[in-house]
Formats: sequence, structure tokens, C-alpha cells
Amino acid sequence: MKQDVRILLLGEPKVGKTSLIMSLVGEEFPERVPPRAEEITIPADVTPEKVPTHIVDYSEKEQSDEVLRDEIVKANVVCVVYDVTNEDTIEKIKTKWIPLVNGDAEKGNKVPIILVGNKSDLRSGSSMETILPIMNQFSEIETCVECSAKNLKNISELFYYAQKAVLHPTAPLYDPEDKQLKPACVRALSRIFYISDQDNDRILSDAELNSFQKSCFGNPLAPQALEDVKTVVWKNTSDGVQDNGLTLNGRKHRAGGKHRAAGGKHRAAGGKHRAAGGKHRGAGGKHRRVLMRFGLVKFDESEICSIEPAKLKVFMVLKSCCVNAESVACGFRLSAYLDVHRCLEHLGYLGYPILTEQESQTAAVTDAVTREKDVDLEKRQTQRSAFLCKVIGPRGTGKTAFLQAFVGRSVLSKGNASSAFSPYVINTVQIGNQEKYLILNEVDVEMEFLKASDAACDVACLMYDASDPHSFDYCASIYKQHYMDGSVPCVLVASKADLPEAKQFHGMTPAEFCYKHRLPPPLPFCGLTLDAAGSSIYSRLAWAAMHPHLNGSDLSSASFWLRVALGSAVVAVLGFAVYRAVARLK
Ligand code: GTP
Ligand code: MG
Repeated sequence: MKQDVRILLLGEPKVGKTSLIMSLVGEEFPERVPPRAEEITIPADVTPEKVPTHIVDYSEKEQSDEVLRDEIVKANVVCVVYDVTNEDTIEKIKTKWIPLVNGDAEKGNKVPIILVGNKSDLRSGSSMETILPIMNQFSEIETCVECSAKNLKNISELFYYAQKAVLHPTAPLYDPEDKQLKPACVRALSRIFYISDQDNDRILSDAELNSFQKSCFGNPLAPQALEDVKTVVWKNTSDGVQDNGLTLNGRKHRAGGKHRAAGGKHRAAGGKHRAAGGKHRGAGGKHRRVLMRFGLVKFDESEICSIEPAKLKVFMVLKSCCVNAESVACGFRLSAYLDVHRCLEHLGYLGYPILTEQESQTAAVTDAVTREKDVDLEKRQTQRSAFLCKVIGPRGTGKTAFLQAFVGRSVLSKGNASSAFSPYVINTVQIGNQEKYLILNEVDVEMEFLKASDAACDVACLMYDASDPHSFDYCASIYKQHYMDGSVPCVLVASKADLPEAKQFHGMTPAEFCYKHRLPPPLPFCGLTLDAAGSSIYSRLAWAAMHPHLNGSDLSSASFWLRVALGSAVVAVLGFAVYRAVARLK
């Protein structure tokens, strides 16, 4: 949105430029005026569009051609004023003033112009007949208005049109030379149509039209206005109205046919413009099927074919992350967690919040992501619904298998390389009677680990290969380096539980290590046979993330430690007995 609007008044001497400005400001007609009014600034809060607006007068008597040129360059919009009783001042619009303003400007780069016919109090008829050919000749003329500084007629309207010409220009929407909507505008309007068409019957019912109207302008249309819209469309198109609702063709017609309506809609389309613009043609049938599987039926054929590659990529990622293609919600949790801005853009692209009548898009994302951990520690349990778990371990430990098992896939049977899989997966886990989203992120690191920022997450899953004697050493050092003093709960997982367990070279056994650091004991995992014990690890991870203050230890692990303690007591007793037996033999 523009910061300031600068309106410049030009025209032949004595047409009433200065009088118009003074009438606006003083709200009465000044009998005597100076040659040139001082520049006036209207503060933002009293203008309809809430933008500070400067109004600048011009006087041939007081200003040189050079100064005039400078003023033209600074202006956002020019009002060319003529005297409705003076043909010569109308003739000069096309022979002098418009060439002076836009003579050198390229198409698409022209300053918008408003034609202002002053002194309408002195003439009974309208000057439109002479003005219309000029309007047709110069596409930069946004509109024309007849007014009277003397009667105060149409004065504030004139400045409102000028402001609007700058803030909601028609040029990006409508090509006056070709007399049709620009392609980007057609695309944006089509998208708005599909988004507003909530029941996907390709017809905008009264209710759908009004919910669009409400979301853009705050108010629904009055019943009569609704009927008028449909009547206009019905009269002007062959297929614009069907089953008492607007079709896509009708929608475009409505926007194109009415100048003022199109201006307003531009504002509505604004947010979507970015999404609709800069499309890339040529994404093929494969991508289309993917989008269809996502239930994104709000794309017509051409839209699907022209979706941006970047956007497609995200949808592909969502697909590979979701446990099933229909659960887009899962995917959005993930994309919200990873990239809030991008997620907002996608929500907007899909028509949120118009579709769901939510207060804001942000609310949807906030819910998933933004609650702070500090609050969690205070409350002793978090209300958040999505958690990020980093799965960290040396190469070949089975991290990918662990991630894929979470979404019900087996890596081993397909014989795929790990690189074929996304480093993120998301699925729901049941914690008590609540459903939570758990995001697993595999951290691919070589033997030495990570910046501190890489370690940040809601719960760390340190994975080691129980059959590889060197594997645990790595986990222990990661723990000491990044998690020992922090507040991130850690859970150790011993992978390849089906293979014979190797004695780890680390100073202590994994169980002893966990005991010493008050961690829950390592949980065995086997990617080959995913059983109930294996899948309970995911709940365990989410549980740990939900209860950061417990930092991993809970009652079930207390009972485990009791067993460990008892176990070592038994070993100790046994050892003592063996010692005694051996001693006796000696
Ligand atoms: P320059 O400063 O010389 O360029 O002229 P200007 O365009 O600023 O015109 P100005 O406001 O000085 O008005 C010229 C004359 O027209 C004055 O005598 C005004 O009183 C008169 N005038 C301006 N507006 C109206 C109007 O709406 N109706 C009538 N009847 N007279 C007007
Ligand atoms: Mg003047």
C-alpha cells in the first residue's frame, strides 16, 4: 500500500483550480483567491482510504515550466481541470496537458489522470459528449467528474476519485486499449471464484457471493443489490447466470464491466495476487494427480497446469510426509513448524481463512507452533499439539527406518537408499485421550556433531546401533555436548534389536549411562518387525516432549530402575556366591 498520495491540479488559467482546493478546505466558495493555493496535506485519518494526501496547485503566473515538470514527476495522479463553459479549455486537455504529463512515458508507466469539469453551475447540460472521445483516446484517464467550486458540488468526490486512482488503479486489471481484463486479473478472479465456490458446483449462490462480499467489504449485499448484480450479468452475457447463481463467466463480466466494482475487487484480490501471478506453465499430469489426491479440488484445469514449481514442491513434500495423502492437516502442521511464512502463503492460496471464516490465518498456525517452552515448564504440561523430535545417531543406525516406520512404511522391503526419503515425517500419536502431532526429523551427521542450533527441538531421540560396539560412544558424546545441561528431554533408542547385542566400547554400558544421567533406559527398536513395543516409542517421545520438566524420567522408568537395582543386587549376590565357591575350591 502507498505511503502518501500526491494529487496535482493542472489546467488552463482561470478554470478554477485554486477555487476547487479552497472550497474543499474551507467548505465554502471563496470569492477571491490567490493565484496559487499553498500545498495542503490531509491527514490519514480523515481520508476515506486512510492515507495522508497532499493536494498541489499550479499557477502559470507563478511557476516556471521547469518547476511544473518537477511537480509532474512528483505527482501520483494529475487532475486536469477544464471549464465546462469553455471549449478551448477542453481542447487543451489533449493538445497540451496530457502530452505534457505523459508524452514521454511508456505504456504501463503513465501517471493516472482524472478529468475535472469545473463550473457546472454555469451550464445546464453536460460536457460529456466532448469529453468521451478524449477518454477513449487516452487510456491513462481513469475517470471524469463534473463539479462546481461555487456550489460545492462533487468536490470531495473529485479528491476521493483521485486518491482511489492511485491506491486502486485499474491499469493492472483492465486493458482499456484491448477493452478486456488482463490475463493475471482473469486468473486472480478465477481463483477467487473457485475459493468462494464452497460447494464446488461451479456456481456462486447468493450465500457464497455474500460470504465473499462480507470477507472483503465487511457487509453482505442487500437482497436488491444481489438481484441487480445478477440482472446486469444476465443481460450482458449468454451464460453468466445459471440456477440463480453466477457462473465463472458471469463473475469475470461483473468485475470487468463495472469500473467501480473492479476497483474494490482489486483490493480483495491483492493478497492473492502474488499467489496468482508469475505462474509457470507446463507442470504435467503427474503433479495434477498429486494435487487431486490432496483433495485440492478448488483448482480448475488451467490452474493445476500452471501452479508454481515451488508450490508444487511443497505439496510433494507434504505428500511424502503424510501418513496418507488425504491428511493435509498433518502436512500443514509440518509446514507450519518448518516455515511459518510459507505456510501462511499456502493457506492464503487455498482460500483460508475465507473458506473457514477464521479470524486470521495466523490463529491456525499459532495453535500448532508458537507457544513458548517457558510456559510449558510453568504449567508442567504443554497445551501444544505439535512437537519436533530430532532423531540423532551415527550413519547406518537405522534412523530412516525409524522415521518411515512411524508413517507405516518399511524401508527394508523396498531396498531403497535412505536418500530417497524425506528427512521429516509427521503423524499423530495418542497421549492419554489427546491426539498430538509428532514430527520426526532425521539429523544426518557424520561422526562429529552439529551447531548448538541444530540441537534445538522438543525432544531428542538419541539412537545407537546395539549391534555395533562403537555406536553408543557417539550418542554419549552428543548427549554430553548438547543435552546434558539443557532442558530438552532425551530418549535413547537402541536400534537393530533383532541382531545379537554387542558390548559397547564406551566406558559404561548404555543402561548404566542412562542411570547416571537420570535418563529413561534405552528403548529397543527393530525396523524389521514393528511390534507394539516398537510403536510405543513414538508415544514415549511425544510424552517426553509434553513433560519437559520431568526431563525423561517417569514412574515407569522408576520401576525399571528398581528392577535394575534388584538385578544388580542379584548379580552381586551371585558374584559373591561364585567368589565364595571358587575360594572354597582353592
Ligand atoms: P489560475 O490560477 O490563473 O491558473 O486560475 P485557476 O484555475 O486557479 O482559477 P481560479 O480558482 O483563480 O478561478 C478563476 C475564476 O473562476 C474566479 O473568478 C473564480 O471565482 C471562478 N470560479 C472558480 N470556480 C468556479 C465555479 O465552480 N463556478 C463559478 N461560477 N465560478 C468559478
Ligand atoms: Mg490559481
